[in-house]
Amino acid sequence: MSLTNKVALITGAISGIGLCCVKEFLRNGVKGVTLADVNVEKGKEILSLLEKEFGSKRVIFVKVDVSNQDEFEDAFKKTIEAFGNIDILVNNAGILDERDFKRMVDINVNGVIIGTFLAMENYLPKYKTYDDPVVVNISSLYGLDPSICSPKYTATKYAVLGLGRSLSDKTHFEPTGVKILTICPGLTETAIVNDIYEKHPPGRYVNILNNFLPTINLQKPEVLSLAMVKILENFQNGDVWLVEDNQCH
Ligand code: NAI
Repeated sequence: MSLTNKVALITGAISGIGLCCVKEFLRNGVKGVTLADVNVEKGKEILSLLEKEFGSKRVIFVKVDVSNQDEFEDAFKKTIEAFGNIDILVNNAGILDERDFKRMVDINVNGVIIGTFLAMENYLPKYKTYDDPVVVNISSLYGLDPSICSPKYTATKYAVLGLGRSLSDKTHFEPTGVKILTICPGLTETAIVNDIYEKHPPGRYVNILNNFLPTINLQKPEVLSLAMVKILENFQNGDVWLVEDNQCH
């Protein structure tokens, strides 16, 4: 699919991978992007920077906690009010917090399920611009290879993969025409990795991280956004793409 003149709603859009995707989508000709994020103060700052760079008519910010269905629905409504349509939902918001794993499940799993079903059942079939609407869900390398990561975070990312695998079946695809794509980033230089020690209780996993993290080359978030645009140009419903070490497969 081409991004030209499409409308996208991206969650977790004001930091790291999400913000790079917003910019890459805008560079690739989307008509409009909704930045959906829980952090209002930073959201306003980022919105004003993006308006200077890309023009005020192409971006809006909506405060959304993805685990709250009403707030998520409000973001769909405001997107349609602002841009007239919606073609792409990127469920990118996610946290890695072993200390508050219930909140992590709420955001990483419930948030993705809420967004995916609002998009597939209510909004994308009705308000798409063209005939190729898509939901992109961000899982993780640790949804594929759980060897060193926090088991609780890994479980949430497996759930995202499971959702994509189930929805790609034609019994789900045919009635809505909405494709599902799952992208699994490898370790990427963003706040989620920088804060990793704060969010893990001391003990076994911090020891594992201490041994593992210094041996890894973190990729830049721009690698993800460039890859996502390329993948969107040419993917099949239900695909799972790993983006790691500057390679997609
Ligand atoms: P980040 O911490 O830079 O960005 C996360 C964004 O989500 C922030 O803007 C934050 O305000 C927002 N957010 C947090 N809770 C929210 C909520 N309840 N509702 C709405 N927005 C919320 O992290 P990063 O790395 O850009 O993460 C993006 C996605 O990529 C996440 O799903 C993460 O699990 C996934 N990922 C990241 C990897 C990495 O190494 N950085 C590797 C694999 C997957």
